[in-house]
Amino acid sequence: MNAFQFYNPTSIVFGEGTADRVGELTARYGKNVLFVYGSGSIKKTGLHARTLSRLAEAGITVHELPNIEPNPRLTTVNKGIALCREHGIDFILAVGGGSVIDASKAIAAGTLYEGDVWDFYSRKAVVQQALPIGTILTLAATGSEMNGGTVVTNWEENQKQSFVSPHTYPVFSILDPTLTYTVPRNHTVYGSVDIMSHVFEQYFSLTPNTPLQERFCESILQTVIENVEIAIAKPDDAAARANLMWCGTMALNGGQISVGMENDWSSHGIEHEVSAIYDIPHGAGLAVLFPNWMKYVYKQRVDRFVQFAQRVWGISGEGMSDDEIALAGIQATRDFFTRIGAESRLADFGIGEENLDRMAEEAVKYGNIGSFKPLGKDDVHAILTLSL
Ligand code: NZQ
Ligand code: ZN
Repeated sequence: MNAFQFYNPTSIVFGEGTADRVGELTARYGKNVLFVYGSGSIKKTGLHARTLSRLAEAGITVHELPNIEPNPRLTTVNKGIALCREHGIDFILAVGGGSVIDASKAIAAGTLYEGDVWDFYSRKAVVQQALPIGTILTLAATGSEMNGGTVVTNWEENQKQSFVSPHTYPVFSILDPTLTYTVPRNHTVYGSVDIMSHVFEQYFSLTPNTPLQERFCESILQTVIENVEIAIAKPDDAAARANLMWCGTMALNGGQISVGMENDWSSHGIEHEVSAIYDIPHGAGLAVLFPNWMKYVYKQRVDRFVQFAQRVWGISGEGMSDDEIALAGIQATRDFFTRIGAESRLADFGIGEENLDRMAEEAVKYGNIGSFKPLGKDDVHAILTLSL
């Protein structure tokens, strides 16, 4: 286990009915709020009207920024920054999934920065300050509700980039699992794949002596596996939705489950290149890529893949070699993603060879990616080719 420092400032308010506390919680931080949301799901569910009522009761002035896209766009973020400056906004409330929360973080940091907010994503500048943000989460997936990360797409340049800052952790996040009953099947699946992928990025590590962290990771994977199909079959299953939501938050909240471990994150880097050109849902891309990354790198540490196969998938391994057990665990992962309805090939999205070279080049534009097996351009190209 390596030396580490861990701090997470986000206050989590979890449970049915907690969305009604949004006025009281927001009033602790601001009086003049930008209310950010997506393309309409919260209007259909009534959460939009309910949020406005609670904010009004708390005496809060509200300005709205609707229509945050899935895979949020820099142009929309810039609209938000302009609104914040025009109205002297002192707090941002994000109500939605990871895209809404990520865009809100960008707006929060960009408003207090004189330059172009894209500088943070293109590594030209580091965030020094941001407006406070709070969230009401409506989709279990990214962990953005309890981390400092944000991913935004500069569509004109086909660049999907991220940054992580201690200044962009939400001050509070309301996690009411009943708000996720309306998440459609495909996003329930993609969100669950994303949660599992966040764990994979941390679990497949070369750092020795991390038994507690490994078991945290395995317990999240098992809990997601046990609950996704229940949520698909019965979207308003309270227990399954609550478990998925808490798994999502715990899987990526500043590294709590993997403190002292080197993380990988190369599959995420590759997926962002695919989304940057083809605008596919993040979890869908990960379902295609991750098992192929696993196949490509497992020999770096076969024992970790054997442990994964045995503990997470219950493969006994009797009479099998370590390589066979490791590969059986990878196949079980692929089969599970397929069973719950995720795509397994880039071709399922109409993606062919045409941009493989460009995506591989972009993925390594700041240098090799990953730590489990550092990947150069040829490696990324090979993983993309396996995924066609
Ligand atoms: O826009 P609306 O109408 O709200 O509809 C959304 C959207 O179409 C819908 N939805 C959300 N909650 C719903 C609902 N529909 C019905 N009922 C509800 N309760 O779901 C669709 C997808 O939403 P989105 O926010 O895009 O999904 P997700 O949470 O998976 O976020 C994906 C984005 O987060 C980034 C991804 O790259 C992608 O851009 N990531 C952010 C991370 C972070 N900040 O830490 C880490 C991740 O690895 C990821 O890269
Ligand atoms: Zn992810």
